[in-house]
Amino acid sequence: MAVTELMQELFFNPINVALLSVCVFLLYKIFAGGRKQPEPQRPPELPRMKRRDFTLQDLKKYNGVDDERILIAVNGQVFDVTRGKKFYGPDGPYGIFGGHDASRALATFSLDKDSLPEEFDDLTNLNPEQMESVREWQMQFREKYDYIGKLLKPGEAPTDYSDEESNAEGDKKDT
Ligand code: HEM
Repeated sequence: MAVTELMQELFFNPINVALLSVCVFLLYKIFAGGRKQPEPQRPPELPRMKRRDFTLQDLKKYNGVDDERILIAVNGQVFDVTRGKKFYGPDGPYGIFGGHDASRALATFSLDKDSLPEEFDDLTNLNPEQMESVREWQMQFREKYDYIGKLLKPGEAPTDYSDEESNAEGDKKDT
């Protein structure tokens, strides 16, 4: 019977059991984990970060621990995800992304540290579906979080944004 076979496949295949456990753990972290430490008052939001570009190394400290702010790069763009601390903070289910380029991890649906590059990752060996997935994540991040600047390729000079009104909303136009 189809349902019985599905259940057997789900619960007796070790890979599916492992995946199911990861999902249950993530759901627990997202929903129960957030309730564990109720905050009597919302912490004051950090001022909007000035527009600037980052190397992979520059990004590292913005992991919610070494610096309160949390930045994540997706497909060459750096986003301030501090307001998503329950996801990307040190105790969040996606905490390993903080201060990193999460493109490959998101494209391959992986929470493995090996998916977070130590060197600049040009993503050229991702397949078309994975590239499409990165672009969708990028769009989702652009909708929800502030765009701060570019992730610089090795040797690429940072853009001089000093002429821009860096705190102005609507500065997503040239991204
Ligand atoms: C397979 C089990 C997984 C489950 C059950 C799960 C569950 C969820 C849920 C329920 C949300 C929405 C939370 C909310 O908006 O309140 C979410 C968001 C998210 N998930 Fe997962 N997830 C899973 C795996 C993954 C994996 C493997 C990745 C990364 C490779 C991932 C990355 C994300 C990201 C980036 C968000 C968006 C957080 C934001 O809004 O900034 N998830 N997940």
